[in-house]
Amino acid sequence: MDYKTQIAGFLAQATGLENDKVMDLIEIPPQLEMGDYAFPCFILAKTMHKAPNMISQELASTIDLTGTVFTARNVGPYLNFFINRDSFAENVVGDIITSGDSFGSSEIGNGKNVIVEYSSPNIAKPFHVGHAFTTILGNSLARIYKKLGYNVVRMNHLGDYGTQFGKLITAYRLWGDEEALNEDPIKELLRIYVKFHQEEKNDPELTTSARENFRKLEEGCPDEVALWQKFRDMSLVVFKKLYDRIGVEFDNYNGESYYSDKIPEIVDILNEKGLLVESEGAKVVMLDDEGLPPCIILKSDNTTIYASRDLASALYRYRTYHFDKNIYVVGNTQALHFKQVFAVLKKAGFDFADNCEHVAFGLVKFKDMIFSTREGNIVLLEDLLNESVKKTREIIAANAKERSTGMSEEEIDDIAEKLGVGAVIYTFVKSGRERDIVFSWDEMLDFDGDTAPYLIYTYARTRSILRKGESQGKLPSGPDGYKLLTNDDEYALIRALADFKESIIKAANSNEPFMIARQVALIARMHNRFYNNSSILNCDDEELCRARLALCEAVCTAIREGLNLLGIECVERM
Ligand code: ARG
Repeated sequence: MDYKTQIAGFLAQATGLENDKVMDLIEIPPQLEMGDYAFPCFILAKTMHKAPNMISQELASTIDLTGTVFTARNVGPYLNFFINRDSFAENVVGDIITSGDSFGSSEIGNGKNVIVEYSSPNIAKPFHVGHAFTTILGNSLARIYKKLGYNVVRMNHLGDYGTQFGKLITAYRLWGDEEALNEDPIKELLRIYVKFHQEEKNDPELTTSARENFRKLEEGCPDEVALWQKFRDMSLVVFKKLYDRIGVEFDNYNGESYYSDKIPEIVDILNEKGLLVESEGAKVVMLDDEGLPPCIILKSDNTTIYASRDLASALYRYRTYHFDKNIYVVGNTQALHFKQVFAVLKKAGFDFADNCEHVAFGLVKFKDMIFSTREGNIVLLEDLLNESVKKTREIIAANAKERSTGMSEEEIDDIAEKLGVGAVIYTFVKSGRERDIVFSWDEMLDFDGDTAPYLIYTYARTRSILRKGESQGKLPSGPDGYKLLTNDDEYALIRALADFKESIIKAANSNEPFMIARQVALIARMHNRFYNNSSILNCDDEELCRARLALCEAVCTAIREGLNLLGIECVERM
């Protein structure tokens, strides 16, 4: 529980006001020396028939704060609360040092199952930056839920089905080049797919053949299935390489195809409930009462469609995992689709529909960035990563030369890869997900800005202080030293550290990783202020020096764990 909430609890008890009301009233005084929180007593004047000054004086003497980290003092009509800095430091730093890697973990999710569906790219199509958004956001959410003790199932609902596979089969038989396919499968599949659409304009036979091939695929004809399987396997090899590079994993790759034979059951259920109606040859569920357009379940040629596969997959997920939450990390543009799917589930009597959530996100845009894109005007994640790593490498190599760090080329490569990839990931998670993202090299690679390089650099430099201390025989203090960490900079830093756990819970409640990103960034900024204003290793007071080293250790733990929750890896030196 954060401090404001705790204080509100004491105040509610002492005044008889409602907790929420007190929360609204509590203020943060403009200067630290006036206290950490302030409660204005004006509101009680009427009911208590006393002047606010008197009330605050009375409250100061009656409110019982023994055993807490707070003291209260009346200042005019305000009751000001002060956090006792020494016991506060003892609590917060002590907790981080003893928790280590599990700092921020909790048990609130124990026994609960959460499905996080993310990435879900389309087979045979390039992996563009829009898919990067879901992949990075979903990966972070999966890590966040796991940290909070949930049992997390990470699903990749691959776009591995649909009429486009009929087209690909036809196109491959006509123009496919085996060698090109082996060399760069996505490129070759895209080439023949584009060609199909060009040729189709003048050749209606192609359309018929493609439809026929998709029907055969749905019926399980071996030749068509074999080709489809080949396209799927080859695309997955390419996707998995990318996932590896950005540290993303899945428990399950059941794509749309997996649900194709589970659709008849859905059709039966909808029929039984009298929900399925004919419309222009297709079978649909009307959703007028929800203010939504009809949801198509079967097309006029009886083939299945994207939405029907999502209905079958939701039911499958519920039966298999009994989820408490089923999250779909998919772009804003599909908001209507998910509203329709959830509404149909609800109408069909599946109450788990209420536990399904579309976690949407905005568009990806670019400011002064030019890519030699291979695929028209879409930007591929791989190109974005490569360019980011290349630019990061230039910065690091120049810096290493200037400081004569003696770093080897391999070390520079390794650091550039982690920072460059981290910079891309951080850009996706640093702001509210529904906002569009604008990429700009200047901003994302600014080592002093709100960027991954800044955070990782702060971490690495702090690790180097700890190593240097160790080499001089100066080790972080034990718990009895922490109470020395009470000056304004130390205190501000410790407050930022204290709010870290709460930021993870808030991030999970709103499915917004940026809440963690913001907290880690605040910790790093407060730490750098502390670092610039205080001497750590050169401190005259040996006890204080060791306490400050312990604080450095706590900062490293928080930054490392926070970045890990965002899917970003730190480096130990740079
Ligand atoms: N494959 C789809 C696309 O790339 C996204 C799938 C989203 N997930 C779902 N369950 N419909 O647009």
